[in-house]
Amino acid sequence: MAGPPVFAGEQKPAVRPSPTITLEFAQVSIGFEEKQLLEGVSFRLHHGETKAIFGVAGSGKSTILKMALGLLKPDSGKIFVLGEEITGLEEDELFELRRRVGIVFQESALFDSLTVRENVAFRLLEEGQLSDAEIEERVREALSFVELEHTVDMYPSELSGGMRRRVAIARTIITHPEVLLYDSPTGGLDPVTSNTIIELLVKQRDVYQTSSLLVTHRLQDAFTMGTHYFDRAANQMRPLPAGARVGVPMSFAILRDGCIIFDGNLKSLRETGDAYIREYIS
Ligand SMILES: Nc1ncnc2c1ncn2[C@@H]1O[C@H](COP(=O)(O)OP(=O)(O)OP(=O)(O)O)[C@@H](O)[C@H]1O
Ligand SMILES: [Mg+2]
Repeated sequence: MAGPPVFAGEQKPAVRPSPTITLEFAQVSIGFEEKQLLEGVSFRLHHGETKAIFGVAGSGKSTILKMALGLLKPDSGKIFVLGEEITGLEEDELFELRRRVGIVFQESALFDSLTVRENVAFRLLEEGQLSDAEIEERVREALSFVELEHTVDMYPSELSGGMRRRVAIARTIITHPEVLLYDSPTGGLDPVTSNTIIELLVKQRDVYQTSSLLVTHRLQDAFTMGTHYFDRAANQMRPLPAGARVGVPMSFAILRDGCIIFDGNLKSLRETGDAYIREYIS
């Protein structure tokens, strides 16, 4: 029988000690062209936790991720990332933050004219702080994490949709971010390929204890993350017995009409009496 998840810390590459709360939205509101999109959105993401965010198309999920990166500023409210309030930061101050917070965009957003190696190395090449040999090692490490080392000299057009998603993840994790923002990482993929992506997210969560926000349309993805752990010895994701699931650092938030109408663990989500949520998760 599978044991409780083993969250070994010795492989975590980030050297900085992470605060207990890695990301916090406090009464955040934003609107576009006189239309209010989000109103008083508050939530906290704890160190090592993955929070899945659900909501219908246009409910503001991507907007939340963009605000967490400082790409968009809220009209009111405060956003704290890794212990720092980011709402008042200037662009150059946000640069360092974006090294510690990685985003995997809704579409993989790879550069078609660059090889996989150049795509994955992009951030490190731009920073210009590492030698070519060090960058190559980091590219190999990131591609090995997503099990795509053999594609290093290929171009995105030569890859399947699922492989492109995995390269996009490799590109994001190459800087060893402490917080990951995934925007619909399985969108448009078949269920089997989606599962390989979710397995990577579980691996990132359980091996590196990276905190993440996961925007997804697929409830199944988040449920899988709430009921599985990554077995490092076997190098694969495994189901947890029901009694051990409570220890999984996974939470669920549901957005509706600009507000978070639910924020809690899998058990409370399944037990909720709210009719809208019941319909949503059924
Ligand atoms: N920069 C912007 N300027 C104007 N309107 C915007 C901007 N960004 C987002 N919006 C609007 O805000 C709404 C929410 O957008 P957002 O992309 O956050 O939704 P979403 O929940 O991610 O949707 P989907 O599930 O389709 O990805 C949309 O109506 C969109 O048109
Ligand atoms: Mg979106």
